Amino acid sequence: MRRVRDISLDLRPAMLDDLGLIAAMEWQAREYRIRTGVHCELSIELGDLMVDAERSTALFRIFQETLTNIARHSGARNIQLALEQDGDCVVLQVKDDGRGFNESKLLSPDSLGLLGMRERALLIGAGLEIRSRPREGTMVTVVLPGAAAESNGQQTRTTRRDHTNRR
Ligand SMILES: Nc1ncnc2c1ncn2[C@@H]1O[C@H](COP(=O)(O)OP(=O)(O)O)[C@@H](O)[C@H]1O
Ligand SMILES: [Mg+2]
Repeated sequence: MRRVRDISLDLRPAMLDDLGLIAAMEWQAREYRIRTGVHCELSIELGDLMVDAERSTALFRIFQETLTNIARHSGARNIQLALEQDGDCVVLQVKDDGRGFNESKLLSPDSLGLLGMRERALLIGAGLEIRSRPREGTMVTVVLPGAAAESNGQQTRTTRRDHTNRR
């Protein structure tokens, strides 16, 4: 339990700084599997879209909170993570095959983690949807509109270094 709790404390801004969003998520997924034994399958295909530092940090934190919840509550064996382009939107989706929960929890003032995710999404102008049902797993989707297409055609993804140091 302590190790699970550490996941969100463990955020290394340096990791995002140095590697950018995609590599940081890959790293986190690997780390998570080692810690929890839960398999995390990644599908990352951002095309030419870039995500700036502030939004990368928010998406990464949301991802970490979903991982923490999955480890704590779901009993899932498998996670599917997708970070994909849909038009000019970046879509982050985290799906688990765990026990799910009743969606009435979404409205509960006790659900501070879920509320926090929603708030983070709101702050970067993204929409967040959580779908869950008892025994049918949980799916968290974040849709971030207005990501800029990369203009210079280079492969490098946005890292915090490319921008001012906003968090
Ligand atoms: N992936 C998940 N699988 C099963 N239940 C979940 C999942 N994510 C959240 N929950 C349920 O939603 C509740 C609220 O989550 P959250 O707001 O993060 O609070 P906390 O994790 O502190 O309990 C959890 O207590 C749990 O019952
Ligand atoms: Mg939580």
